[in-house]
Amino acid sequence: MSNPSLLILAGDGIGPEVMAEVKRIIDWFGANRGLTFDVSENLVGGCAYDAHGTPLTDATMAKAQEVDAVLLGAVGGPKYDSLDFGVKPERGLLRLRKEMDLYANLRPAQCFDALADFSSLKKDVVAGLDIMIVRELTSGVYFGEPRGIVKEGNERVGINTQRYTESEIARVARSAFELARRRNNKVCSMEKANVMESGVLWREVVTEVHQAEYQDVQLSHMYADAGAMQLTRAPKQFDVIVTDNLFGDLLSDLAAMLTGSLGMLPSASLGAPMANGRPKALYEPVHGSAPDIAGQGKANPIACILSFAMALRYSFDKGDEAARLERAVEDVLADGLRTADLMGPEGGSPVSTTGMGDAILAKLD
Ligand code: NAI
Ligand code: MG
Repeated sequence: MSNPSLLILAGDGIGPEVMAEVKRIIDWFGANRGLTFDVSENLVGGCAYDAHGTPLTDATMAKAQEVDAVLLGAVGGPKYDSLDFGVKPERGLLRLRKEMDLYANLRPAQCFDALADFSSLKKDVVAGLDIMIVRELTSGVYFGEPRGIVKEGNERVGINTQRYTESEIARVARSAFELARRRNNKVCSMEKANVMESGVLWREVVTEVHQAEYQDVQLSHMYADAGAMQLTRAPKQFDVIVTDNLFGDLLSDLAAMLTGSLGMLPSASLGAPMANGRPKALYEPVHGSAPDIAGQGKANPIACILSFAMALRYSFDKGDEAARLERAVEDVLADGLRTADLMGPEGGSPVSTTGMGDAILAKLD
């Protein structure tokens, strides 16, 4: 059997810096755990524009369609701000998401004990927190027609339309149930079925998919506004939350910040299963290219490293190896190692990007 394949797109700014640490970790798994990937690498974003006049070449797009998983760093930077809209670095990322049809956006909110003081919530509310928000990413009110600003009489009217087909709801529900089976078998679906027809249909379809295919998973429903309250009151009651594009945008940002720094947050975007049963997948840190610290060795590589851990778990069925890597991160933090972004007001001496990578590799050993 051939090795699983990975396409690395490090991108711009701190992207290549944090990805360099991930590459060392990938090598470690090859050398020590018999887990060898066929890794290819290419350009995306501003660096691709510099080299090819486009933020994503057709060849890179084709490669992304054929590999088992894509691992992306970050794109963008002030150097590219004046470019035409069509060739901006972000267009490269948007093209990947669109052409791979990545409809399920996974945003974990996980609290490492050593960082629990970082949260704006009380320590015991967040310590040990580990939840996953699944946000529908390719439909809903951000895409529905009609849309626009029209004139009615002598008033302007802004219009957006929330629209979901049952197949769009069913496929993201399946992604959530599949995830739940790899976690704690629990899904909470959030909508506003009390005031929105699209929410009524959402609840019906999620219930139907559950009845037909996933009765082993525990399903509950919650109105999204109540969900927001519960997320801040008692977030540990949740495991997997599935919700639409708009509510997911808000709830995933809210949940992520329960646990602290942007430099810690991984994400995944999943699409339909491929012929080998694995979903199309793109893994990336939530943060951007951080031009203010790029090139200084200050970036926290953990968000990108945890994105690779998600790839191990959700694309390659290596939950044990993912847990091994997450544990190494946890141990390093428990030892008190901090990159600059994790320094509290009391200060201290931060480690560099490679210093953090070294420490995580040492824990893996
Ligand atoms: P950003 O996430 O790049 O940075 C926000 C703040 O967080 C900065 O102060 C930065 O230094 C800090 N930060 C981010 N990641 C960090 C890490 N790993 N370690 C330590 N500190 C970290 O967002 P910003 O400044 O709004 O955007 C900068 C550029 O990145 C823009 O060109 C933007 O378009 C692009 N961007 C790209 C994204 C992507 O590739 N997915 C996502 C967000 C922004
Ligand atoms: Mg957002």
